[in-house]
Amino acid sequence: MAKIGKTELIAAAAAARERAVAPYSKFKVGAALLTATGEIITGANVESVSYGLTCCAERVALFTALTGGKKKFTAIAVVARLDGGAMPCGACRQLLAEYAPAAKVFVADSARLKTIRTFRVQQLLPGAFASF
Ligand code: THU
Repeated sequence: MAKIGKTELIAAAAAARERAVAPYSKFKVGAALLTATGEIITGANVESVSYGLTCCAERVALFTALTGGKKKFTAIAVVARLDGGAMPCGACRQLLAEYAPAAKVFVADSARLKTIRTFRVQQLLPGAFASF
């Protein structure tokens, strides 16, 4: 199988975004995780009428992957309709630092999927709390 690149991962995140459940903010976000074995696991944000229960696309993807037995991740793509794309929130950065520390983070605006910004998880949360 051909290696999955950032373009394919962003496309998977864009497709996942269509399945977002965001009736309150209407801000749909899709995420796609790439495992070390080349599998793509996706997620989208799910909102609650009790706003604080909302879960970001990144965490939905990560929790799905982890509970599906996936352990190593090389990248995550995040797509939302926002100029420059949406950056992962602090809570998602913490979880990515714990479970996908070596991952690249690809971010794109759903209206401009070819413009992809690339970050490292370590760069997004330097000095993350990782053990006690
Ligand atoms: N959201 C995500 O899913 N990921 C992000 O990176 C930023 C924010 C969601 C949470 C909420 O459903 C909506 O976007 C507005 O904050």
